[in-house]
Amino acid sequence: MLNLKKLIQSLAVAAVAVFASASMADSALQLAQTSDGFDAEAKYMASCFACHSTGAAGAPKVEAGVYDDQWAARMEKGMEAVMANVINGVGAMPAKGLCFDCTDADLQALVDYMVEASQ
Ligand code: HEC
Repeated sequence: MLNLKKLIQSLAVAAVAVFASASMADSALQLAQTSDGFDAEAKYMASCFACHSTGAAGAPKVEAGVYDDQWAARMEKGMEAVMANVINGVGAMPAKGLCFDCTDADLQALVDYMVEASQ
């Protein structure tokens, strides 16, 4: 029979081994969030689509063929500056695009998805 306590202990040990510098609870959380299962399209639909499909409040639109018009000038300042705006918010763009369970890596995957979908 599966011993739940032992399973949790071994998961915790694995998490500590991977994220030795972080606390045990944080490590387990990060492990879950950075797992390969992140689905950028599904997360985009859940968190970003509402504004970015319509261009609400001046949001750069995400749809095929709009890159030059909607994204090129924004990307000119460099990905690092764009990601700082996504993480901290800018104008009517809320911090993290309201995706509060997204890690920085998740947000980067979302922006990559949005830029690609706009080509
Ligand atoms: C409430 C509406 C709203 C939601 C939800 C939203 N955005 Fe935005 N977003 C905006 C607006 C408005 C701007 C333009 C801000 C400006 O430049 O003044 C923007 C701009 C951006 C930019 C360009 C930033 C730049 O430096 O030019 C990126 C990238 C972006 N959003 C990503 C996301 C991602 C990823 C999500 C979902 C996790 C998201 N947004 C959710 C409204 C939204």
